[in-house]
Amino acid sequence: MLLCGTYCEAMDQLPPNHHGDNNAKFGGPIGYLCALTMTIGRRGDGKLVTKLANVTANDHVLDIGCGPGTAVRIAASTGATVTGVDPAQPMLQMARLLTKIRPPTGTTEWIHAGCEDIPAPDDTYSVCWSLASVHHWPNLDAGLTEVRRVLRPGGRFIALEKQSPPGADGLASHGWAPDQADRFAAILHDFGFELGQVENHHHGRRKVVTVSSVLT
Ligand SMILES: C[S@@+](CC[C@H](N)C(=O)[O-])C[C@H]1O[C@@H](n2cnc3c(N)ncnc32)[C@H](O)[C@@H]1O
Repeated sequence: MLLCGTYCEAMDQLPPNHHGDNNAKFGGPIGYLCALTMTIGRRGDGKLVTKLANVTANDHVLDIGCGPGTAVRIAASTGATVTGVDPAQPMLQMARLLTKIRPPTGTTEWIHAGCEDIPAPDDTYSVCWSLASVHHWPNLDAGLTEVRRVLRPGGRFIALEKQSPPGADGLASHGWAPDQADRFAAILHDFGFELGQVENHHHGRRKVVTVSSVLT
């Protein structure tokens, strides 16, 4: 098995999880503020992945690092069953509140967990995605091992990140430069996924990149 950290260091590149040590804020009081800001302008991301993954009422979708749950509710509006997991309680509290205010057609479920330890049996989900979150995963190998375990063979996986200019810092660095998206596609392949398709998209003023693949 390829160790992502070692691989990226050898390539002298930023790994796709370059903010993996920058997560404490999500779980503390400032997490509520982060959750609020993430309710703004993210609907386009949720609609995009729901469309790219062809989500239908027959799907069981897993959203890793779901934040306040925008994409979960959009996917559930197709009638699908959708599970949001996040290690930050403020995010899950906001997600539950917003879902109570405007419940979607399908079933939603919220689980307090990180990508490295997903409390679900093997082969549970037909679709899994992670939006603006992979760059925060502390351990890419552990996270992808779990994605592979809980996704059914033939299941679709999508990682979405904001397009980030190479060498960006501050808020602008919270996404992927083109080489990080390509690197993530290669890493996915090493984890038993089909070679990922890297695509750029924009909706409104938001520019994002997706890496989409299927578990073989
Ligand atoms: C920038 S937010 C994105 C939230 C949501 N996906 C969205 O697009 O609105 C990043 C999310 O990743 C979550 N996160 C941090 N560490 C994580 C981990 N180890 N596993 C899964 N998610 C994690 C954070 O708690 C946060 O909710």
